[in-house]
Amino acid sequence: MYYKNKVVWITGSSSGTGEAIAYELNKQGAKLIISARREAELERVKNNCENKENPVYILPLDLEKHDELTQKSIEAWNIYGKIDIVFHNGGISQRSPVIDTIFDVDKRIMNINYFGSVIITKALLPKMIKEKKGHFVVMSSLSGLFGIPLRSAYAASKHALHGFYDSLRAELHSEGIKVTLICSGYIKTNIANNALTDKGEKFATTDPEIENGMSTEYFVKKALKAVKNGKKSLLLGGKEKIGAYLKRFAPELLAKILRNR
Ligand SMILES: NC(=O)c1ccc[n+]([C@@H]2O[C@H](COP(=O)([O-])OP(=O)(O)OC[C@H]3O[C@@H](n4cnc5c(N)ncnc54)[C@H](OP(=O)(O)O)[C@@H]3O)[C@@H](O)[C@H]2O)c1
Repeated sequence: MYYKNKVVWITGSSSGTGEAIAYELNKQGAKLIISARREAELERVKNNCENKENPVYILPLDLEKHDELTQKSIEAWNIYGKIDIVFHNGGISQRSPVIDTIFDVDKRIMNINYFGSVIITKALLPKMIKEKKGHFVVMSSLSGLFGIPLRSAYAASKHALHGFYDSLRAELHSEGIKVTLICSGYIKTNIANNALTDKGEKFATTDPEIENGMSTEYFVKKALKAVKNGKKSLLLGGKEKIGAYLKRFAPELLAKILRNR
């Protein structure tokens, strides 16, 4: 019942984890705002939401179009007159070595994964502080805890989210603002297909780790429980999750494993 009548804005809800979060929250009675670039896919997600009594509002946006995001955030707030939870989920990955990756790719990944979320958060904060409540759920990754080969910009963007949202959580704790950082391992979605190559093209294929990753349904169950319980972070994944412990307790060993990957 926790999510009933909560207003939840989910970016990146035209596929993958965002789509799955939308379906489950719709079932649980939330009022949704769903965002991504592809409006037709958002329409599909809206149509597939089972509980037709609960509103699902489509707000298309591009996280790279920074000039538009403040206005989009105000628009989002005004749809239901409040926002209880924002899932900063929209994002893009990478499959390319540092040496070959053109700088435009580094910038695009930071602009989408990091700065897009920062602009939205800053636009909503004054309103949330006035209401004395608001919850930012930030889709990081194990790559937000340690970098792996072929993910330099992706890992950088996810690390940046940790720095920003840890600071925000500390600053605004007494204002009723909550932050949950989700550090997930592999989830079976289109993330690899949509990842950028060294020249900024679509990778357009998947990889075995993603194919064998957890289901979006499993991911959603764990993520929504952590959010409901107000967890500051959630570590999730298969055996790749061990990397998070190695980074902390045996960093030399992790470095060795990663260079042989
Ligand atoms: N799958 C995994 O193994 C995994 C693991 C850890 C973390 N994550 C994170 O989970 C989040 C969702 O990824 P996913 O796995 O569900 O992959 P996905 O299926 O490729 O979904 C990515 C979502 O982000 C949206 N998006 C991409 N670029 C955008 C832009 N410029 N503006 C607005 N929206 C944009 C896409 O929608 P449009 O194309 O319609 O814009 C799509 O809805 C990402 O932040 C990713 O880093 C994934």
